[in-house]
Amino acid sequence: MADAATTDSSAKTGLDACCKTREPAWLTFNQQVYYKKNLTSFSGASPEEKKMNDSLSRRDFLKLSGGAAAGATVAVTGIGAAEAATVADAGRATLPYKPQVIAKAASLQINHPTAFNFPDTSSPCAVIKMGAPVPGGIGPDDDIVAYSTLCTHMGCPVGYDANARTFKCPCHFTMFDPEKTGQMICGQATENLPRIVLEYNGKDGTVVAVGVEGLIYGRQSNRL
Ligand code: FES
Repeated sequence: MADAATTDSSAKTGLDACCKTREPAWLTFNQQVYYKKNLTSFSGASPEEKKMNDSLSRRDFLKLSGGAAAGATVAVTGIGAAEAATVADAGRATLPYKPQVIAKAASLQINHPTAFNFPDTSSPCAVIKMGAPVPGGIGPDDDIVAYSTLCTHMGCPVGYDANARTFKCPCHFTMFDPEKTGQMICGQATENLPRIVLEYNGKDGTVVAVGVEGLIYGRQSNRL
């Protein structure tokens, strides 16, 4: 029975025979040129010609291989750069938002919502000054918060109940707590109200919407 070495040797011989009759398809174009040139010296050349051909061919091969390798490096680098740009764009978990001034902090009344749209005109939201510091609250008193006003159950517009200090949905009665980052209190919805991320500009007293936490109802992405 043939041992492993014998099997390898036979396989190699078979490959050589194959290469002498037909250049391997996996070689680069330049390497195939080398193979075609070199076949002459393998077959009909005199010993001197063969020696010279072998020497030239080795030089050519090294040159061609080097060139091919350098080309491959450039090509790979080029593809890598192109892929990096594509991946960087396509791989973003969130798209950037354009900051939008939505109110002057001093103009907001405690426990009274003010409507605005963010990040686009088809996304209704409300900003509220709660009157006491709350999680995520901004402004001089850390009490200003904002939310999307589309119910996360089926998209009905929620209303604000100042007595209960909650957002309530008229469709299936889900309630959301603005003092607890929009948490769903009860009802049919399973997600909290999307929270509008705010920043306070102390220089001019403006409240600026800079992002959204949570998915606005009916969207695959908050940025259309
Ligand atoms: S749409 Fe708001 S609870 Fe159903």
